Amino acid sequence: MKHLHMTIAFISVALFTLRFVWTIAGSAQLNKKWVKITPHVIDTILLLLGGAMMMKLALNPLEQLWLGEKLIGVVAYIFTGYYTLKLARNRTMQIIGYLGAMGWFLLVARLAMSKENLFF
Ligand code: HEM
Repeated sequence: MKHLHMTIAFISVALFTLRFVWTIAGSAQLNKKWVKITPHVIDTILLLLGGAMMMKLALNPLEQLWLGEKLIGVVAYIFTGYYTLKLARNRTMQIIGYLGAMGWFLLVARLAMSKENLFF
């Protein structure tokens, strides 16, 4: 389950990067049906797999603070990703949004691997 979770996380960030590149390039690929649907399916599976592991390992994010921080990071990754692709109105804002989302993604991966809380 863990390796599937990690693979799906990698696919999620790869699809986000691809959509970012197509956004910057003004590509018509963005209008394709699979491009609109697949990222949502992937991100939902990622959340569900993470949730399932949390239950299986009986981890409480309020006790395991690295996990609590990770969940905050995931919410921030999803929001900055949404900002980048939908809300950012020009190229500069899109690039800043992309860098922000990548920063959150890297923090989430770092927290997952070290299992040490950084802030709380
Ligand atoms: C951007 C999203 C995510 C990334 C990049 C990510 C990354 C990872 C990685 C790399 C691991 C393996 C860590 C290791 O080597 O042991 C992992 C494990 C795990 N993740 Fe995620 N994850 C993400 C989202 C989530 C979400 C949304 C949840 C919970 C709802 C979650 C819960 C877990 C749990 C419980 C483990 C297992 C920890 C353990 O083995 O003790 N993850 N994650």
